[in-house]
Amino acid sequence: MPDSTSGISRRQFVRRCAGFGAAMAVSSALSACSIGFSYKPTTEPDNADLGLKEVAGQKSVLFGAATMQATLLADPSFAAAFANHVGLLAPENDLKWETVEPQPGIFNFAPGDWLADFAAQHDMLFRGHCLVWHQQIPSWAGANVSAAAAAAQLTSHITETASHFAGRMHSWDVVNEAINPEDGRSDGLRKTRWLQTIGPSYIELAFRTAAEADPHALLTYNDYGLELDSSDGDRRRAGTLKLLSGLLAAGVPVHALGIQAHLRADVRFNATKLTDFIQHVADLGLQIFITELDVADRALPADIQTRDSVVANVYQDFLQTVLAQPAVKAIITWGLSDRYTWLSQYAPRFDGQPVRPLPLDASMKAKPALWAVMDALNATEARASRRI
Ligand code: G3I
Repeated sequence: MPDSTSGISRRQFVRRCAGFGAAMAVSSALSACSIGFSYKPTTEPDNADLGLKEVAGQKSVLFGAATMQATLLADPSFAAAFANHVGLLAPENDLKWETVEPQPGIFNFAPGDWLADFAAQHDMLFRGHCLVWHQQIPSWAGANVSAAAAAAQLTSHITETASHFAGRMHSWDVVNEAINPEDGRSDGLRKTRWLQTIGPSYIELAFRTAAEADPHALLTYNDYGLELDSSDGDRRRAGTLKLLSGLLAAGVPVHALGIQAHLRADVRFNATKLTDFIQHVADLGLQIFITELDVADRALPADIQTRDSVVANVYQDFLQTVLAQPAVKAIITWGLSDRYTWLSQYAPRFDGQPVRPLPLDASMKAKPALWAVMDALNATEARASRRI
């Protein structure tokens, strides 16, 4: 059990143990380490009987979560919990290119329409994820064609998709994950097939096309790693600011930045750097959405109480930092319950224990993480107003 008298912060503890090598060693070392680590117990807030969307709504902040049509259809207990807590539905996969346009010109909006209807029936807003990405797109899209042909594919996909949902969409992730400093470009852009076929102008083309197809949706640039306390994080923040500043200077209709915030309990974020970064984004006149929030507990000990408490502290620390910026208008978790998280497939624990990254446990019960989200929302200033 963690010992709050040891004085060693939980981050120092995890980092010290993490230095012993692979996560396997870390999880066993964590239990073997004689030193404990401190974390602040998270208590149930007074308004814990409310759903997260009400608590957020009291401050004119949106609380949302990602899910899929298949999950809502298959699991009534999850659907009920989702309806209770969620004020904005983000399709985890159902609006990605591979689903929406599997063959050129052949569109499948059925899953997206079903989710839009579910959102409307449960008084939720609906957001689109995502129009242009380098993953989950069919092999024919943007590959082995001329720049003009790729631009035509991109324009057609965005026009058909965004106009189909026009009037029902709070916001779109128009371009997702276009920055990748490791690719070595001076502009920090990722060498996706869109960049290599069309050139950097694909981003402007995507936003202008989306604005024409849906003049009312908030058009968002979405990316990850923007909170990291590392040189990679520094380059990601710099590249994103450079991209957004350039687009806005050219009159491109961008309305928001999406910070994915796939956090890890064992990798710190830098509150000062993050605060400075989101201030610069706000100074550009953009709204900021936290779009894919979760906290991976892979490197934490097996003990559930310990894991849940450390994960809750990460939620609270991160949300208190970002919500201090009034331009932050939405908090969206990537999933709602541990029963359905991408991390089970992509970042399973080495000890085989089910991961616990989200506000509800696999039985739809509230965890300290949910209370931590509520605490951060209760503590933040009410927003003047929110464009819906
Ligand atoms: O739909 C097929 C199904 O027919 C098949 O039976 C099953 C087993 O092979 O696979 C299903 O497709 C899976 C799909 O999710 C839908 O569940 C893919 O294998 C799987 O790779 C895909 O993973 C998604 C991942 O993006 C793909 O990169 C995750 O669910 C999704 O949470 C994740 O989300 C991304 C965001 O879009 C962008 N930001 C990062 C985030 C996490 O990677």
